[in-house]
Amino acid sequence: CGIIGYIGGKPSERILLEGLKKLEYRGYDSAGIAVCSDQGLKVVKAKGRIAELENKLRSQDMPSATIGIGHTRWATHGKPSDLNSHPHTDTHMKISVVHNGIIENYMELRDELAAQGARFVSETDTEVVSHLIASLYEGDIVQAVQRATKRMRGAYALAVLSELEPDKLIAVRLHSPLIIGIGEGEHFIGSDIPAILEHTRDVYILDDGEMAVLTREEATLMTIEGNLITKQLFRVNWDLAVAEKAGYDHFMLKEIHDQPQAYRDTLSGRLFKGYPWVYLPELKLTPEQIKQFRNIHIVACGTAYHAGLVGKTAIERWARLPVEAEVASEYRYRSPLITPETLVIVVSQSGETADTLAALREAKRHGARVLAVTNVVGSTAAREADDVLFTWAGPEISVASTKAYSTQLLAFYAFAIHLARIRGTLPDEEIGPIVHALTKLPEQVESILQRKDEIKSYAEEIASREHLFFIGRGVDYAVVQEGSLKLKEISYIHSEAYAAGELKHGTLALIEEGTPVVALATQPDLYEKTVSNIREVMARGAGVLGIATEETAGLAGSVDRLLLIPSTHPMIAPALTVIPLQLLAYYASVARGYDVDKPRNLAKSVTVE
Ligand code: G6P
Repeated sequence: CGIIGYIGGKPSERILLEGLKKLEYRGYDSAGIAVCSDQGLKVVKAKGRIAELENKLRSQDMPSATIGIGHTRWATHGKPSDLNSHPHTDTHMKISVVHNGIIENYMELRDELAAQGARFVSETDTEVVSHLIASLYEGDIVQAVQRATKRMRGAYALAVLSELEPDKLIAVRLHSPLIIGIGEGEHFIGSDIPAILEHTRDVYILDDGEMAVLTREEATLMTIEGNLITKQLFRVNWDLAVAEKAGYDHFMLKEIHDQPQAYRDTLSGRLFKGYPWVYLPELKLTPEQIKQFRNIHIVACGTAYHAGLVGKTAIERWARLPVEAEVASEYRYRSPLITPETLVIVVSQSGETADTLAALREAKRHGARVLAVTNVVGSTAAREADDVLFTWAGPEISVASTKAYSTQLLAFYAFAIHLARIRGTLPDEEIGPIVHALTKLPEQVESILQRKDEIKSYAEEIASREHLFFIGRGVDYAVVQEGSLKLKEISYIHSEAYAAGELKHGTLALIEEGTPVVALATQPDLYEKTVSNIREVMARGAGVLGIATEETAGLAGSVDRLLLIPSTHPMIAPALTVIPLQLLAYYASVARGYDVDKPRNLAKSVTVE
């Protein structure tokens, strides 16, 4: 989602709308603005693209105002609709709020505020924030916001505007980006630099736990506890096209770097450190229904199918149910054995892929219950499935999928734990370490990203090659299939992913002096076997890049070079090992001079069969 805020001497409506248009790439299912004038607070919002909001504003009698906040939404809690759009207000329309992030304890706050008489009109988590601030207001809006932050758990970037103190804008950040723009007699809030770039290049970048109180004359920075702070002003020297990519050269690289945040968002409210369970309140599936399933089919296309391969392994291992994973274009035509005791899981970033939707409908026709794992609220898959688990990766723009895949893995891990717990197939002592490993992922991904230059230099070496092989066993084999697809898609280098033990049954014939091979060996129980397979290729002259965890670091002695990833639960390793494989594909494509974000012959969402 995107946030913009303005306080100054110019008409705010135009500035907010222009800012939102610059943010539209961040999410575009609905938008809205709130402005404050001597006639009080006025909120206008509309489902659809910013143009819909613009039309609506034209037909309204808008007061002239010089302060306001705006938002363009990518739905998480609550479908796209006028009512669910931001800004949200309190019952008496005194306080308006726009928000990015997820308030994890919103249900609890909502019940509490409703009991005190607050009237809720939307299905969003954000609406509790406006009611909460209103309930804590005792004559000072800044204090009310500070008190509210003490009650909220989760992630938020907030901009708050109240008619009770109409010459002030408040911005607060926790785990969701927010910046403050400094102008002459005017100040801005933005979730991203593009929103305000037209007006100023001088910004403060808020850190977690910081807030800003903006008047026309002053920008006061403080912690959410109210201690004043000083920050270095950051001068933006990017143009708009670069700013949209948050300073990265391509959307793909930006999206690779979005993954720590995407992981936090996807896990947020679903699992909690120290508790051996996951919480998936969005599922309508009851424990009784879950106990009745006899088998599971996972159906998807492309990258989403590869996420399904990891999902299959996790569900079979933990929940002890037979799982088949299949590409949707095959599944639907082979008259699969679907019964009412089959759960069909369709996986789709967009929720619009024609083959996947056809499989979904086929499954329903046979009486199966369908669960969709998708990134787009309101998508066809989300609407037609019986249940939905959303990945909260945010909009993915690059054709080659990165953060959608990795958050699909997280959704599968969470669902597999949920199944296992209900079926009683995994004791709490085993679930605990898995949950712990999941909570550590965001910072572990960050540490891998900090070492991206190691991958870059390897990618530059192999960029001139015609073929490359990826090998692995178990879930490593599932991940190398994704790594290989990524490389093919954007660098056009031919590559094959092989189950390490299968290579000797044919493909080994293709290995010759200097053939590059990427070998994953993160599974302690398969380690020795994988090392034998690595020796087989090295004996034929292959140059091997090994990827291992700290537990399998002994691999160093068996490969030409080694990339170590942080230690994790073996089943969770794909959520880390895919990161270097994405970077490898990215840097190989850049080295070969291709259009990374728009590979030839491919489309982001394929809505034809
Ligand atoms: C297209 C894209 C792939 C994607 C596949 C499935 O082919 O190029 O990157 O994996 O569709 O897309 P979905 O939106 O269903 O996940």
